[in-house]
Amino acid sequence: MIAKTTIDNVFETARVEEVIGDFVQLKKSGSNFKGLSPFSDERTPSFMVSPVKQIWKDFSSGKGGNVVAFLMEHEHFTYPEAIKYLAKKYGIEIEETEQSDEQKQQADERESLYLVSEFAKDYFKHVLFKTEEGKAIGLSYFKERGFTEETIKKFDLGFSPDSWDAFTNHAIKKGYKLDYLDKTGLTIVKGEKQFDRFKGRVMFPIRSMSGRTLGFGGRILTNDKKTAKYLNSPESDIYHKSKVLYGIFHAKQSIAKEDNCYLVEGYTDVIQFHQTGIENVVSSSGTALTPEQIRLVNRLTQNITVLFDGDAAGLRASLRGVDLILEQGMNVKICTFPEGEDPDSFSRKNSLEKLTTFLEENSRDFISFKASLLAKEAKNDPIKKADTIRDMVVSISKIPDVIKQEIYIKECSRIMDISEEVLFNTLAQLVNKDKRDASRKKRSDKKPMEVVSAEKEKAEKIDVQYELERKIIELLLLYGTKEEDFEELILDTDEKGDVTFKPEMQTTTVFQKIFLDLQEDEIEFTNEAFKDLYYDIIDRLTREEDLKVDAFVNSLQPENASAVTDILMEEEKYSLHDWERNEIYVKEKSHSVSQVVSETILNLRRELVNQKIKELSGAIKEQSPEGSQVDLQDVVDYITLKKVISEKLRRVL
Ligand code: CTP
Ligand code: MN
Repeated sequence: MIAKTTIDNVFETARVEEVIGDFVQLKKSGSNFKGLSPFSDERTPSFMVSPVKQIWKDFSSGKGGNVVAFLMEHEHFTYPEAIKYLAKKYGIEIEETEQSDEQKQQADERESLYLVSEFAKDYFKHVLFKTEEGKAIGLSYFKERGFTEETIKKFDLGFSPDSWDAFTNHAIKKGYKLDYLDKTGLTIVKGEKQFDRFKGRVMFPIRSMSGRTLGFGGRILTNDKKTAKYLNSPESDIYHKSKVLYGIFHAKQSIAKEDNCYLVEGYTDVIQFHQTGIENVVSSSGTALTPEQIRLVNRLTQNITVLFDGDAAGLRASLRGVDLILEQGMNVKICTFPEGEDPDSFSRKNSLEKLTTFLEENSRDFISFKASLLAKEAKNDPIKKADTIRDMVVSISKIPDVIKQEIYIKECSRIMDISEEVLFNTLAQLVNKDKRDASRKKRSDKKPMEVVSAEKEKAEKIDVQYELERKIIELLLLYGTKEEDFEELILDTDEKGDVTFKPEMQTTTVFQKIFLDLQEDEIEFTNEAFKDLYYDIIDRLTREEDLKVDAFVNSLQPENASAVTDILMEEEKYSLHDWERNEIYVKEKSHSVSQVVSETILNLRRELVNQKIKELSGAIKEQSPEGSQVDLQDVVDYITLKKVISEKLRRVL
């Protein structure tokens, strides 16, 4: 167990904007930062980080919370993992209190898979550098490929001994369960027998954005055509091929800094680029590019340069990846290497300066790239030419930004020597078709019309109450200790005996006003999270504890923390979209705090009284005239109360 002092220290030190900044490209926006949601597929930013409140909120998925909640959501860390990650980032020493055997066992399965993978990585490294076999076979192979020792260490490369079960036996001896070795695919279990999956291969650990070992690629050293050159870890709870990019951990800083990401095909391309001095490079490791992988990059930059090997085989297929990138609203450039070269071989032969110049001079946008493909294939073949042009327009139609679309259409027209008009028509046809497809899909997704109006009414009623309870929590959080003048209306009768109000000004704190008013009516919140929060906040404020929001959020249970984050970030939402702001701003801010507090309390009371009246009237209708259990007088009293509340509300507004 991590000691409480360590956890406190971590919370005091960690800055939410710095931690999230490692994963999401954040831009300053007023007193906040905003960026693209890392939890959904979007093109306009709805992800917000508040450095002042030390919380974040993703308006597109509804997720939010403190720095630890982000790591738990985004990296799928457990709470202790998140704390450890932060401690490491900020150089805080972790104090552990002794773990019982039971606690050890309870450490969840995912964590065990991570641990096994980490262990395997260290083992393969050890074999590579410290054993005769590793040095003679693995290390000399890497050196032959031109990798320096520094590079080998940077990427944690390793070697798996050429024996059926050397690794598995060692792992089991060290106390790792066969079950986890099996689940990570490091060991292949066949009945009673166990085999090392990566027997006799050099090992490339695959790491997450935050640096955890998720799986491995293992390359065979012989030129045996019968065995696959590379073997990769199978999918597991911690390794999802489609969501990982090889090298992203080592590249992320540089991608953000250079505002561009090079996308290559293989492990060795990534490594050789690094050694030459270019670090903003990742690989999809031989599989077709996925939207999830593109999104990993999208958080760091808007620009991708795809690097293709010199041999044109498989090029057309790889071009589909280019359309996918365009679809994500990103800018794509394409660069091909000279015949017979790939990024690995080319960067090995050339200096950083030469490589940089080459990349600069040969990166072209996809239009001119496709045009040059045609030039190579069959310049005077009209059918091929028509295909290529259509192909270009399809790519252009994927671009979400219409201005960019227009620029590319013009470019295409110029290069392919065809009128803009024809191209725009083709584009319009494609876009219309996409739209039709989308609306057809939407229509079939639609649910049948709601018919049960009673149900609906109930839902609305609950909504009103929910909103009011939420508003009370908001007021407590934002203005709890603020002193305000409240107009209390004392019930009185005038000369004619009619009911009147005598206004009296009283100065009190917002939280006291709320607490006393709600207590007077014995109002209980219906929403459990709000109820918890309400008593928690009142309790703290009564004990004169300062409600510093960052510390407060960190002390809450996850559900409650999320409710509070929602409330605190609500305001910021309008700074994402200025057009929404004006209206809301006027509505809220022209009222004084005291007005809003009174109004909210009264609205809540009126809502509850309304509910009571309906409930009682319903009961009266149902009961037989004889056995009257519901006192009519009660109903009358509630109706009078409602009038009083309405009158007070009118005065407030
Ligand atoms: N790959 C794979 N399985 C294979 C072949 C390739 O997973 N059987 C993946 C690997 O991630 C590899 C990438 O596809 O890095 C590119 O393949 P290739 O160009 O053949 O490999 P290189 O990285 O160039 O490897 P090397 O230079 O060591 O031959
Ligand atoms: Mn290669």
